[in-house]
Amino acid sequence: MASLPFLMVFMASAMAIYNSPLAPDYHGYMTGFRNLSKTLSIGGAAVCIQGDVPVKAAAMNIHLNYSEPADQTVVTNTILEYYAVNSTLVQQVEGGKQNVSGTWKINAKLCFPTSTNEINSRTVQILTHGVGFEKSYWDFYSSKYSYVEAAALSGYATFSYDRLGTGLSDHPDPIQVVQTPLEMSILHELIQMLRSGRIGSTAFSHVVGVGHSFGSGLTASNTVNYPSDLDAAVLTGFSVDASGKQAFWVGLNLEIAAYNTPARFHQLPRGYLVASTVTSTQFGFFRAPAFDPLVLEASNAGKQTFTIGELFTNNLLAGLVARNFTGPVDIVDGEHDLDFCDGNCLLPTNKVAAVRAAVYPKSSNASEWYVAPGAGHGTNLHYSAPAMYQQMLSFIVSNGL
Ligand SMILES: *[C@@H]1O[C@H](CO)[C@@H](O)[C@H](O)[C@H]1NC(C)=O
Ligand SMILES: *[C@@H]1O[C@H](CO)[C@@H](O)[C@H](O)[C@H]1NC(C)=O
Ligand SMILES: *[C@@H]1O[C@H](CO)[C@@H](O)[C@H](O)[C@H]1NC(C)=O
Ligand SMILES: *[C@@H]1O[C@H](CO)[C@@H](O)[C@H](O)[C@H]1NC(C)=O
Ligand SMILES: *[C@@H]1O[C@H](CO)[C@@H](O)[C@H](O)[C@H]1NC(C)=O
Ligand SMILES: *[C@@H]1O[C@H](CO)[C@@H](O)[C@H](O)[C@H]1NC(C)=O
Repeated sequence: MASLPFLMVFMASAMAIYNSPLAPDYHGYMTGFRNLSKTLSIGGAAVCIQGDVPVKAAAMNIHLNYSEPADQTVVTNTILEYYAVNSTLVQQVEGGKQNVSGTWKINAKLCFPTSTNEINSRTVQILTHGVGFEKSYWDFYSSKYSYVEAAALSGYATFSYDRLGTGLSDHPDPIQVVQTPLEMSILHELIQMLRSGRIGSTAFSHVVGVGHSFGSGLTASNTVNYPSDLDAAVLTGFSVDASGKQAFWVGLNLEIAAYNTPARFHQLPRGYLVASTVTSTQFGFFRAPAFDPLVLEASNAGKQTFTIGELFTNNLLAGLVARNFTGPVDIVDGEHDLDFCDGNCLLPTNKVAAVRAAVYPKSSNASEWYVAPGAGHGTNLHYSAPAMYQQMLSFIVSNGL
């Protein structure tokens, strides 16, 4: 009994240290962040610096002949036209290229092991989330679903960030600005910042790109355009099979975010969309009985936006071939991924193993692939997450990174 007040005082002081931006920053780990806080990962295994990182980036986006949807019927009709047989909607909407440039506020989290309270500058893993989520996808609900913690327990620093247009990052024009080319450019820029020590005063020698879904597409695209940026790529929720896309996108039943979830998104223009209900979130990302219903509830409660600009430019992530990338790749999918496997990654052939030959002809023979038993597209959100994390980390360790 006597230990309870002591414990409470201890916890309060520990939290004060972690939350205070004024705590001494002996290592310069706060460098590069603005409006920051020092926090712990979901179960405490990692210490994190979280804040806004200004990222200067330019890209050749595509001018879209598409104005802000007047109401929900326009959005629903766009999805119907997009998936109609032999649709030419994308070609009709896509115009010429246009240069977008600026300094974008990207909210990010640099995490490292609590056990050492130090960053090992050898390697950082940059974690890029997919559609419908933000960086918390990598540190979700409890330790079991936290890749940030699994990595920290293996000694690794991780850098996760809210993609442009999600979470606490900037939310610019969702049609002309939040597009695939600019997001690719921001990822490339963040990798340069991590290598040069502009983030956390730590010049990392190695960077491993870890993605999920759209974030894996961006990571793969980075290996195509900048083959020396990453030492290895771990692509989860990713393949070259497009046969389940229509079911996935129709199942999300996209709605105007400001109308669907005014409490969180009322200020956003109508080109920002979200999955409509908890059922849509289940449809796109989950597969029973391999998940805890409370994790589905949490995913839906925190659901994030997708933009019209991403809808009309994600075709840039199809058919990628990273001809010059010679590092190892690890392709990881849920057995029942709908978006990238049409609900079964092993039928009629193994679509996970097939990625290497299609996308990575020059990749190292130390490449691997893994199928998370029973899981749907949101691999981090299923009971199989801890075993999957061990596979991902042992792949990275066995490559000497
Ligand atoms: C600082 O971050 C908090 C959330 O962590 C946010 O509410 C606030 O608006 C931010 N302030 C600035 C100046 O960006
Ligand atoms: C844009 O679309 C409108 C109708 O949707 C069409 O009248 C116009 O010619 C298009 N503009 C361009 C530049 O393609
Ligand atoms: C639709 O596309 C298919 C396959 O791409 C093609 O064989 C067919 O001729 C097209 N139909 C029309 C009406 O254009
Ligand atoms: C786009 O604009 C930026 C900023 O003005 C410039 O640095 C960059 O070179 C331009 N890119 C192209 C391809 O013109
Ligand atoms: C890939 O390698 C070829 C041959 O060395 C080179 O010409 C090309 O510019 C490289 N492409 C990229 C994106 O690095
Ligand atoms: C990788 O394996 C293939 C097939 O076994 C072999 O032909 C190739 O030489 C190997 N490449 C390297 C770099 O070892």
